[in-house]
Amino acid sequence: MADYDAIVLGAGAAGMMCASVAGQRGRQVLLVDHTDAPGKKILISGGGRCNFTNIHTAADRYLSTNPHFAKSALGRYTAQDFIALVDHYGIAWHEKTLGQLFCDGSARQIVALLEEECAKGGVTMALGQPIADIGHGDGLYRVRIGAVEHRAPALVLATGGPSIPKLGATGFAYDIARRFGLAVVQPRPALVPFTLGPEDALFQSLSGVSADVEVRWNKTRFREAALFTHRGLSGPAMLQISSYWQHRTPIPVNFLPDRSIDWLLDEKRERPRVALRRVLGQVLPERLADALLERIGAQGELGNLSDKILRQAGARLADWPFVPSGTEGYAKAEVTVGGIATAGLSSRTMEAAKTPGLYAIGEAVDVTGWLGGYNFQWAWASGWAAGQAL
Ligand code: FDA
Repeated sequence: MADYDAIVLGAGAAGMMCASVAGQRGRQVLLVDHTDAPGKKILISGGGRCNFTNIHTAADRYLSTNPHFAKSALGRYTAQDFIALVDHYGIAWHEKTLGQLFCDGSARQIVALLEEECAKGGVTMALGQPIADIGHGDGLYRVRIGAVEHRAPALVLATGGPSIPKLGATGFAYDIARRFGLAVVQPRPALVPFTLGPEDALFQSLSGVSADVEVRWNKTRFREAALFTHRGLSGPAMLQISSYWQHRTPIPVNFLPDRSIDWLLDEKRERPRVALRRVLGQVLPERLADALLERIGAQGELGNLSDKILRQAGARLADWPFVPSGTEGYAKAEVTVGGIATAGLSSRTMEAAKTPGLYAIGEAVDVTGWLGGYNFQWAWASGWAAGQAL
């Protein structure tokens, strides 16, 4: 005998959305989390204001082994759908930049919205206790919490990825998925600051300096701020590119994305008596200009520098190859790239093809969004898709 129609593991963004949608469709749902309160990552997201979606959401802003997988769910539950829900609750919001929508007030409002939606669906919550065991037999999934065993014909894995373990994040979903025969794409920290090695110590002394740059990874480009830290490189541009980065490969940074490679030759013709350092200090933060010039090894008045040297300097500033020594890892990563392989899941329902009744949603799945509200939109959309199917 089943106690519930579905058991959802993980009361984060995706789990709460899924449980509330299924509950409001009349399903009896148990929502389980080992922490004592739901939505902990939502609370700290977006600097406490939760960047809850992005109006430019599209599948090409997500990393996945199958770039088409996210299309169905994102197409059926859109940013506009979540905005309508936020508006229904009277939560004030604004667009900050690049289509990113934030609460005017607090991320708590989004957690309260999801809790209310779960309450409307009559969702039962089991919080603050570890999951002791999970089993499957006779068409039922069994989840033991303490001494109590709960049974349901459907089990939803919504326990996210291992980023920020101090908030209760684990790789639990991967373990359970593997146990039920699903493959897991090698997970790694993403949207994470880079560390620089001793050879780049010069740049670590720039801690606190930021610049508007363009970073590239093959055809993907991000024009956002880069921030130098005492350990290496951060800021939106660097976090974005970290999701693509492979160890020991260079990241090409264009420090002057609005200028041509020959711009210093034009400057030379116009003001030959001005020092190169001064010209660069007018378009970049001075400390950064000094550090870059020290590496380039050119100095003096523009008129005294050959065209070749100025062209080379312009080319280097447009294509500066940082080779990070690593990243700050899961402790600082906003998300995890990789996860439960989409090949084993239905893109329409998120159900495992070979294990009926098992679903995986949210960050636990091998779908990872860019910085800027894309990850929550995936959590809402995949949670909604599974919630409709339960
Ligand atoms: P999520 O991590 O939200 O929830 C998983 C739940 O499972 C948690 O409640 C956890 O306690 C529980 N759990 C884990 N292991 C368990 C176990 N073994 N047993 C029981 N329960 C378990 N995204 C975005 O779009 N906009 C933003 O502004 C931000 N900002 C941001 C800031 C910071 C600091 C971080 C770390 C992350 C973001 N993100 C973000 C990313 C976003 O938070 C993330 O992608 C979603 O929360 C993923 O939603 P899920 O529901 O899949 O996992």
